[in-house]
Amino acid sequence: MPVTAVSGSASGIGAAVCATLRAAGHRIIGIDRANAEVIADLSSFAGRQAAIAAVLEHSDGILDGLVCCAGVGVTAPSSSVILAVNYFGVSDLLDGLLDALAKGQNPAALVIGSVASTQPGVEQQPMVAAMLAGDEDLALELAITLGQPHIAYACSKYAVTCNARQKAVSWASLGVRLNVVAPGAVQTPLHQASLDDARFGKAVREFVAPLGRSGCPEEIAKLVAFLQSPDVGFIHGSVMFIDGGMDAMVRPQKF
Ligand code: NAI
Repeated sequence: MPVTAVSGSASGIGAAVCATLRAAGHRIIGIDRANAEVIADLSSFAGRQAAIAAVLEHSDGILDGLVCCAGVGVTAPSSSVILAVNYFGVSDLLDGLLDALAKGQNPAALVIGSVASTQPGVEQQPMVAAMLAGDEDLALELAITLGQPHIAYACSKYAVTCNARQKAVSWASLGVRLNVVAPGAVQTPLHQASLDDARFGKAVREFVAPLGRSGCPEEIAKLVAFLQSPDVGFIHGSVMFIDGGMDAMVRPQKF
């Protein structure tokens, strides 16, 4: 039975991923702030290290899969929390669990990015370079100074995608696959909070994908389960959009 750790397991996309992988025969080690096998706060370095230690204990140090879903949106308490969870809460888990994955059967890891990562100009934001350099203090300080949660969100998703693609190259020799799934709007509590927000609600409502609807968590979970399967063992380092055509609409000549 494959053993897969899933962060953000208590809600939305993460909960759907757990259900789908369980149905496919996986044993799940959920990581979340509550209602999970591993209770941890991924916004702090100490919380991430505690999460890694607990996952290693639950798995006897051998993992077949890791899916990083935990994330916060533009309504998070501050821009610094957005970077801390969405970037460092992912890159630290990937680093800390790599050895366990390398010991697994057909091991595969996956990061939930976002179509927001393609927002023009994000790559020039100084906080992106700070994240990619692993300088958490500087990155969080730059995000607070800018004070634009939607830019911090896009930057966190762009940087975490770059980080995963860089890791994919170095992880290949260990036989551990790593891919990114980039959803558009998906009906979850995170998305609902954005819709209800006085600052961002209008823009979120008006940004409609060509298919004319938002996705549901189960649709994302099916793609995640597909990518985690050894049946598609040659898919590695890919960024897969699942966004109702949003990326194709916004930047048809980039792929
Ligand atoms: P959600 O709010 O339903 O689930 C997120 C989960 O992450 C929650 O269970 C929450 O407790 C957990 N989490 C948040 N901060 C944490 C922390 N500090 N420590 C431990 N766990 C923490 O949200 P949703 O929509 O399911 O989001 C999952 C991922 O999908 C996120 O990375 C999000 O950025 C991404 N995403 C969501 C989209 C959407 O429209 N819903 C679109 C694109 C990407």
